Amino acid sequence: MEGRFNYMGVFMAVIVGAMMVHGSSAQTTHTVGDSLGWVVPPAGDAAYRTWAASTTFAVGDVLVFNFPTGIHDVAEVNRAAFDSCNSTSPISMSTNGPTNITLTSAGEHHFICTFARHCNLGQRLAINVSASSAAAPAPQPTTPPPATAPISPAVPATPPPASGAPAPSPSRAAMTYTVGDRLGWLVPPGGPIAYQTWARGNTFMVGDILVFNFTNGAHDVLEVTRPEFDSCNVSTTTAAPIMTGPARITLTSAGEHHFICTFPQHCSFGQRLAINVTAGGSTATPPSGSAPTPSSTATPPPSSGSPATPTPFTPSTPSPVTAPPPPGNSATSFAVGVLPFTFLAVAVAFLYN
Ligand SMILES: *[C@@H]1O[C@H](CO)[C@@H](O)[C@H](O)[C@H]1NC(C)=O
Ligand SMILES: *[C@@H]1O[C@H](CO)[C@@H](O)[C@H](O)[C@H]1NC(C)=O
Ligand SMILES: *[C@@H]1O[C@H](CO)[C@@H](O)[C@H](O)[C@H]1NC(C)=O
Ligand SMILES: *[C@@H]1O[C@H](CO)[C@@H](O)[C@H](O)[C@H]1NC(C)=O
Ligand SMILES: *[C@@H]1O[C@H](CO)[C@@H](O)[C@H](O)[C@H]1NC(C)=O
Ligand SMILES: *[C@@H]1O[C@H](CO)[C@@H](O)[C@H](O)[C@H]1NC(C)=O
Repeated sequence: MEGRFNYMGVFMAVIVGAMMVHGSSAQTTHTVGDSLGWVVPPAGDAAYRTWAASTTFAVGDVLVFNFPTGIHDVAEVNRAAFDSCNSTSPISMSTNGPTNITLTSAGEHHFICTFARHCNLGQRLAINVSASSAAAPAPQPTTPPPATAPISPAVPATPPPASGAPAPSPSRAAMTYTVGDRLGWLVPPGGPIAYQTWARGNTFMVGDILVFNFTNGAHDVLEVTRPEFDSCNVSTTTAAPIMTGPARITLTSAGEHHFICTFPQHCSFGQRLAINVTAGGSTATPPSGSAPTPSSTATPPPSSGSPATPTPFTPSTPSPVTAPPPPGNSATSFAVGVLPFTFLAVAVAFLYN
């Protein structure tokens, strides 16, 4: 789980670098969870404990809770409420994401998400805040980073752990991919671009296995047709979603495959994955500039399946997913593709505040 925060060092380096450019500034902005954002973390509350332990907070600092409005919130609570995940009388409450909270007093501060079981599943943060005069260490020019390095999508920062195998040859052994790599399967803080980028960075063949790593009770996964994927509305698929993570799904046929989370709003906020699967042993990746052949005639699953009714969806905004951006970063790893947005946002914020 520490692996999720491998970027902490880089992140802090960028902050320090930005502060040096900006000049003297005692106020620091902390993006809670860094690239993870404010989510139900896949591995429980260790994620935010680890993040808090590696960060120093002082009065005047700002916490940025990065989440889409409507599927999470953030409430400051007292310690007892934090320990018991009791959201009945919060100290303060913010429902719009992203939320900035300025730390105005020293001592312990506790934050939880009040949605369903999110707090119990680990979406909570406890921090110690020091008085501002005691904190605000002078920026250390320890390893002045090339500020552009982590920002350029062309520079591979760290190879993704799970799918970091060498580029597959046309015939290769079946591979197992953890969807999203260390992000796992969740509502991505940056929207649909996260899984689009991840998919473009990988090659899928019949026989490969996708592992959807998610927290039970907070997400699920269902393979759907393309129209269902595009609309986030399950109307023809009758199979029941897989409720237990990590869910392993073997790709048994070539062509497009589409996966979504059926929890309300999760798909429309970006928790969906579309991939192209090639027949094993015989192919190179198809030229994606070829004639658009919408596979809207995707075969529905056998109707002999489970009678479970699909989870109803609330209306979603028009899908931005249908037209993937042109290729060109196909070698870009997921992590490299997503993280720069955070870095850019933070760096820009410092430079122009
Ligand atoms: C799922 O995520 C957890 C936390 O990051 C990790 O420890 C675990 O190995 C992952 N499982 C799989 C199958 O990738
Ligand atoms: C939650 O907190 C409220 C107010 O502090 C208290 O009245 C209530 O009993 C608590 N609920 C639980 C389940 O602890
Ligand atoms: C805050 O600091 C106190 C004193 O060192 C410690 O007992 C407490 O566990 C800390 N709380 C957090 C959330 O780190
Ligand atoms: C799959 O490949 C076809 C043909 O190259 C392309 O039109 C389509 O957008 C691709 N779909 C995905 C999900 O990448
Ligand atoms: C979902 O699709 C069904 C069938 O196409 C349609 O009747 C229904 O109105 C749709 N629901 C939403 C919320 O778009
Ligand atoms: C929150 O803080 C970030 C980073 O400093 C900044 O870019 C953003 O504009 C702030 N948002 C609000 C609503 O103040």
